[in-house]
Amino acid sequence: METPSGGRAGVRADFPIFTQNPGGRPLIYLDSAASSQKPEVVIEALAEHLRKHNANVHRGVYTLAQEADAAYEGARRRVAAFVGAQPETTIFTKNATEAINLVAYSWGRANLAAGDVVLITQMEHHANIVPWQVLCAERGAELRYLEVDEQGELSLAALDAELARGDVRLVAFAHVSNVLGTINPVAEMTARARAAGALTLVDGAQAVPQMGVDVEALGADFYAWTGHKALGPTGIGVLHGRRELLEDMQPFLTGGDMIASVDFQSATWNELPYKFEAGTPPIAEAVGLGAAVEYLAGLGMERVRAHERSLTAYMLERLAEVPGLRVVGPTTAQRRGGLASFTIEGIHPHDVAELVDRGGVCIRAGHHCAQPLMRCLGVGATARASVGVYNDRSDIDALIDALLSGREVFGL
Ligand SMILES: Cc1ncc(COP(=O)(O)O)c(C=O)c1O
Repeated sequence: METPSGGRAGVRADFPIFTQNPGGRPLIYLDSAASSQKPEVVIEALAEHLRKHNANVHRGVYTLAQEADAAYEGARRRVAAFVGAQPETTIFTKNATEAINLVAYSWGRANLAAGDVVLITQMEHHANIVPWQVLCAERGAELRYLEVDEQGELSLAALDAELARGDVRLVAFAHVSNVLGTINPVAEMTARARAAGALTLVDGAQAVPQMGVDVEALGADFYAWTGHKALGPTGIGVLHGRRELLEDMQPFLTGGDMIASVDFQSATWNELPYKFEAGTPPIAEAVGLGAAVEYLAGLGMERVRAHERSLTAYMLERLAEVPGLRVVGPTTAQRRGGLASFTIEGIHPHDVAELVDRGGVCIRAGHHCAQPLMRCLGVGATARASVGVYNDRSDIDALIDALLSGREVFGL
């Protein structure tokens, strides 16, 4: 991908890890769905904040503390604007997992009872399964699943049928599947849920890094994502929520900063979003995420999506050249995000990942934190290659070469 100014070295040159060859050989990184690499501007924003503006937030009157406040709240405004949300309803968490747990604990515990249903899908990451399992067990509610079809997609008719049963209180689903790559029809799903009186939580961990997301237009009641997949640092995630819901909800974690006042036996809560940010927040990480979304916005999310869609189409085309290889999920790049999960007959996915690593190619193998989906697919694990803004066709070519040599090692 080229820089918006048409810089010849392209976007890859903005990411120092590719010039420093940490493993002593060129890095071919095809694991951005697990965590993205970081551009220099993000690394520099973190370092610059720690070097020049470091202090705790929301407590100090001195100039340095006010600089830290301005940096943290500025990052919140930037992050909110990046996805069409309001700063007051944009809560910083540790990651997407914590954002989803926040909703399960704060909304779920107060609003679910026996007879109620949480509806999720078979393609969810464990982060969007286990919190609902624990919540439903605690509240005596039921956890039901929308099925994934042969093409790795959900059926709106099946969603309608579930909603028509009248007991679904929350529908929680991924915007983009981290295994199948499927891009779900979020706006259609949230509209149907709303019409049936159910709330929605969308897990946008795989979507925000690679496509333009407008949380208000999507109509989700809650939208969760994570910084480290979106070119930002680890240790920071985001929850956007509908204001009335967040205002009604009790805090998830309690302690400093989230209170208005504390007496010996009781306390009152701070306003949004601070009510949900107990303790010292991830300040430098927020600043880093602010720089990351600014960098992505500078590239333009339509260009990012077009680049990753075209690379994914090329990857699907080239993977078809490898004998015995089966890709799971939608067959066209149009309907999937920037990844492909696959199996190769006769080689375990972990061996696939290890073999391609010999060619310097980083891909992921395993259940990808989606064990129920693995069961539906009838496999224990898959290999997964995923792309980012810094990849180009030569990375895919290197993957295919490494896969073909890997087959030879196995005498296939
Ligand atoms: C779809 C999806 N949801 C949630 C998560 C969890 O993200 P985090 O570990 O940053 O909380 C991931 C990470 O792999 C993911 O792919």
